[in-house]
Amino acid sequence: MLEIRDVKRDYRVPQGLFKSDKIVHAVKGVSFALEAGKTLAIVGESGCGKSTLARILTFIDEPTSGDIIIDGAKVDTRPGHLTSEMRQKVQIVFQNPYGSLNPRQKVGDVLGEPLLINTKMTAAERREKATEMLVKVGLGPEHYNRYPHMFSGGQRQRIAIARALMLNPKLLVLDEPVSALDLSVQAQVLNLLTDLQEEFGLTYVFISHDLSVVRHIADEVMVMYFGEAVEYGSRDRVFADPQHDYTRSLFAATPRADVETIRARLAKRRSATFERA
Ligand SMILES: Nc1ncnc2c1ncn2[C@@H]1O[C@H](COP(=O)(O)OP(=O)(O)OP(=O)(O)O)[C@@H](O)[C@H]1O
Ligand SMILES: [Mg+2]
Repeated sequence: MLEIRDVKRDYRVPQGLFKSDKIVHAVKGVSFALEAGKTLAIVGESGCGKSTLARILTFIDEPTSGDIIIDGAKVDTRPGHLTSEMRQKVQIVFQNPYGSLNPRQKVGDVLGEPLLINTKMTAAERREKATEMLVKVGLGPEHYNRYPHMFSGGQRQRIAIARALMLNPKLLVLDEPVSALDLSVQAQVLNLLTDLQEEFGLTYVFISHDLSVVRHIADEVMVMYFGEAVEYGSRDRVFADPQHDYTRSLFAATPRADVETIRARLAKRRSATFERA
C-alpha cells in the first residue's frame, strides 16, 4: 500500500547575520514498504526524525529527496501537484488532542468540515455521517453539539481519530497518539484503533517511544536513530533478536512493567525505608 524509497529531509537553520546557515539532516535516507491493513511502528528517541517523517508521509512537508509510492503510483509531492484524491487517502492524528481541535467548533462541525469538499453533500447528510462516525469511535449522537473542552483527553483523541476517518482514508499516520493519556485510557484508545483498523482495512504508521505499546500494536518495527533507520523488520524478529546496538540499549533502558518486577521493587524500597527508620 505504502512504500518510501531513500527519503531525506534537510532543514536549513539560520545562525545569525555573520554565520552561514546550519543544515540539519532530520531524515537521512529512510526506506520501507508496508502492506495494506498492517501496522508499522516507528520508535526512537526525541529528535531522531519521527515527526518529520510523519509530516512527509502526510504531505504536510516535502522530502528533500526520495520517493513516496502509494498503491503502486509515485506521488508527486510538489506544491500544486498533489491531487485531492491522494490527500484524502492519507490522514494524520497528532499526540495532543487538546491542541489539535478547534475550541470554538462544535464536535459535529469538526467532523463535518472535511466533508465540505464534496459540494453535492447536504448539511443533513454531513450530519448523519458525522453522527455515524461518533458512534464508531465509542462516542454518541448526544456529543454532536458539544465543544472539545467538554471532553476528557481520551474522548478528545477519539474525536481526532473520527475526524481523520471522515474521508475514508487508507493510511493513518499516528504521531504518538496515546502518549499524552493515562495508562488505562491508552489501552482503550489502542483497542479502538485495532478495531477500526479491522473494520476499515486501515494501514497504520504508528509513531511511539513506548516499546510496550509498540509490542502490542505493531506488525513491523522500525527503529530510528539520528535520522536513520538502524533497525527494520517484523515485530517478533526485532524484539527477539535486535541487530543494532542502539536497539539493544533501547530495550535495556525500558523498564519492564510486569507485576513481579514492580512488586520486587516496592518490597525493596519498603525494606530500605524500614532500615533507615
Ligand atoms: N522545521 C524545522 N526546521 C529546522 N529543524 C527542524 C524542523 N523540524 C524538525 N527539525 C529538526 O529535525 C530533527 C528531527 O525532529 P523531529 O521533530 O522529526 O523529531 P522526533 O523524532 O519527532 O522527536 P520527538 O520524539 O521529540 O517528537 C530535530 O533535530 C529537529 O530539531
Ligand atoms: Mg515528534
